[in-house]
Amino acid sequence: MHAANPFRSGLETDRIPAPCVFVIFGASGDLSRRKLLPALYNLAVSRLLPPGMSIVGVSLREMGDEQYRATMHDAVAEFSRRKPIDEAVWDDFASRLFYESGKFEDPGTFARLRERLEQIDAASGTRGNRLYYLAVPPSTFAVINDNLAKAGLVAAPDDATRYTRIVVEKPFGRDLASANELNQSLHRVFDERQIFRIDHYLGKETVQNLVALRFGNAIFEPLWNRNHIDHVQITVAEDIGVEARGKFYEEAGATRDIVQNHLLQLLMVTAMEPPVAFKADEVRDEKVKVLRALKPIRGEDVARYTVRGQYGPGNFGGQPVLGYRQEANVSPASRVETFVAMKLEVDNWRFAGVPIYVRAGKRLAKRVTEISVHFKSVPHALLAQEGPLEPDVLVVRIQPDEGIGLRFVAKVPGPTMTLRPVTMDFRYGSTFGGSGPEAYERLILDAMLGDPTLFARADEVTAAWRFVTPILEGWARTPEVEPAAYAAGTWGPSAAFELLERDGRAWRRL
Ligand code: BG6
Repeated sequence: MHAANPFRSGLETDRIPAPCVFVIFGASGDLSRRKLLPALYNLAVSRLLPPGMSIVGVSLREMGDEQYRATMHDAVAEFSRRKPIDEAVWDDFASRLFYESGKFEDPGTFARLRERLEQIDAASGTRGNRLYYLAVPPSTFAVINDNLAKAGLVAAPDDATRYTRIVVEKPFGRDLASANELNQSLHRVFDERQIFRIDHYLGKETVQNLVALRFGNAIFEPLWNRNHIDHVQITVAEDIGVEARGKFYEEAGATRDIVQNHLLQLLMVTAMEPPVAFKADEVRDEKVKVLRALKPIRGEDVARYTVRGQYGPGNFGGQPVLGYRQEANVSPASRVETFVAMKLEVDNWRFAGVPIYVRAGKRLAKRVTEISVHFKSVPHALLAQEGPLEPDVLVVRIQPDEGIGLRFVAKVPGPTMTLRPVTMDFRYGSTFGGSGPEAYERLILDAMLGDPTLFARADEVTAAWRFVTPILEGWARTPEVEPAAYAAGTWGPSAAFELLERDGRAWRRL
């Protein structure tokens, strides 16, 4: 039946979520406009939202339902992956979209919310099911959670008649101590089974495809270890700068913004052992083990194995662009890193001794996220060749141009045995046609279904901070050392290249 609906492709599911009310705190913010409402609308287009499901936006700004609908119509028209907006779907969607304004510290806000939710339950059969989405800074989590509990808006985790779940956005803390505090404050009100910590990288089709590649094929896994792999590279490169988020970025930097969460998630999926089943705890158990196996980088190793950079003025697409320190809401003397590169090692039976080089940054030469697995060279130079043979490389392109490429060596046609690297390429777009669902669509659907497999568990988040915090502390101990400058539109500071050159290796040209 599903196959008849072309929009279901990529999100086919036999399970339709139970009707619920989806409550967004921070409903007029950037995330709601750019990601959440467009994702919910696209789920509606795909006919994946349960009948009767309603959405209530909550935030400080004064406005009524109609004004909220109009504002979100414009946001969806601008940011939806499917354009133009389907007005018939939108009208039905908008009739289930409501808005409550109020302060999060004010219990009155929650009393009004409760009344609104009860009215919706009575009218739409949502039966007390609640999905709260915290699209707000973590400093407001505690007060929202406590007020939800005080207003009687949280069901017990094993209540069989209705459910309450909460989705929390990053940043999940700024170091190990604050992440622990956040977990404790969430656990005061919610059981871990009710908490969905979102990392949108896990919702990307290509990240899930890495699981399919590794565990759905027999040919890769036997090679996926220290006997055959020379090293791994993970790049999360963005061409944009900090845009309007200078204030946020001054507090975060590339390590907190990308490495602690998205990049380590990519690493976990690359390096984890096969789980016994593709189920929430089985998968997350294996992922956490990867973090626990990461060789700590602390003390003098911080300077040896990590590189920080910050973009200066440069060029992008032929246009001059600002340096980080000239961006709005950024200190002209800022030492915040907009680029980071590290040499990591997963110190376990499978990967001991295999360097994993990672880098992430803003205002790099292009937007590309990929994982490349570089295999060892052949043991014996049987075939005459000028210079060394290029080793085989398997590339998982997360975005854009999603796909998988295998580079190997082939003979150039002709009378001599001349060898040249060639590529076998699988491209998502041409094989499956069009673009798949956005990460947020997949993850919102999973949260409604109560499936936390692609969400971070408490111990996963704290293990990631346990690894990253000593690096941040190491940098903080030498405040006089500035991040190395790189011109906007380049591949980062020279120190990032030296990190690999020291080992006789080089970053892949992207
Ligand atoms: C967000 C970061 O989590 O991820 C942003 O806060 C970054 O700084 C974004 O731009 C990248 O996401 P994507 O899906 O565009 O790779």
